[in-house]
Amino acid sequence: MEMEKEISAIVSHAENALQAVDTADVAALPHRVEDLKSKFIGKNSEINNVYRLMKNVAPADRPVFGKLVNDAKKRIEDRILSFESACEELVLRFRLSAEQIDVTLPGKSAGKGALHPLTLARNLLTDYFISLGFEVADGPEIETDYYNFEALNTPADHPARDAQDTFYIDGSGGKYLLRSQTSATQIRTMENKKPPIKMIAPGRVYRADEVDATHSPVFHQLEGLVVDKGITMCDLKGILDALAKHLFGESVATRFRPSFFPFTEPSVEVDASCVKCGGKGCKACRGAGWIEVLGAGMVNRAVLRNCGIDPQKYSGFAFGVGIDRIANLLYGINDMRVLFENDVRFLRQFR
Ligand code: PHE
Repeated sequence: MEMEKEISAIVSHAENALQAVDTADVAALPHRVEDLKSKFIGKNSEINNVYRLMKNVAPADRPVFGKLVNDAKKRIEDRILSFESACEELVLRFRLSAEQIDVTLPGKSAGKGALHPLTLARNLLTDYFISLGFEVADGPEIETDYYNFEALNTPADHPARDAQDTFYIDGSGGKYLLRSQTSATQIRTMENKKPPIKMIAPGRVYRADEVDATHSPVFHQLEGLVVDKGITMCDLKGILDALAKHLFGESVATRFRPSFFPFTEPSVEVDASCVKCGGKGCKACRGAGWIEVLGAGMVNRAVLRNCGIDPQKYSGFAFGVGIDRIANLLYGINDMRVLFENDVRFLRQFR
């Protein structure tokens, strides 16, 4: 009888302890449950200690006593385990509501970037030529005198070198330089590929010019080169006129003026009718009605020969467009310094 009382006291002890847990303090619940488990169903729990009293019970009563303890133990365990799963549920719901995201709140802008106008102009040019089946080539910005001048039919004493005030690399004895024109990629391409060749090469070039509204010691060109059997000046005129119309609109006209480059013969400078005034003459074209956009010509036979291409069999044309020039014309920029100053108020306009 004594034992029975003691056992039911243990059960109600556990039940009271469960009742006493403050379930509103959700953050502390997992610890409370652990405490309850070790106190009431762990190895040293009160109910487990009752088994030790078995030796004091008369052998005949032991089965009854054992059942009593087992039932009590089971009851305590069931209570605590179902309390535990109820707590887990509470904790989960608490976490879900704490982590809820209000998708209707206005967002914070991370500030969208924009492509630089030079990148826009370069993409416009390269996409156009890619659509015509041109391959895009690349070349080093630190070039050798050979690729930048010599192989382009411009030997050391050639007066054309004066037009490109070149940065030479100190201590290289005039061998290495910062390329002054993307034309160097013509040679690299022709050395590595047999005709037919259709390539463009956009990139940075350098000349020792003072900075002003129309000059910068670093600027950008896009070189073009086509070499195949039967390429003529008509092909050159056709493709460059189509380019001008693609860039500036169908109504734009082009004109080809005789010019000179050592690596092309004949050579031309190509003008487009002024985008602003349509050819009447305005401030942008200084009254001329025309704006110079690029240099071009038929690849000089000496250049083909330098690259191991037989000029009896093949002919080609080449051109070099100033990308900065094109960006200025497309976006109405009249001082190229803004292209390099990275003033966000300027750059933001291209978003
Ligand atoms: N490389 C020339 C320049 O920078 C442009 C050009 C390229 C001319 C290809 C003819 C052919 O002025």
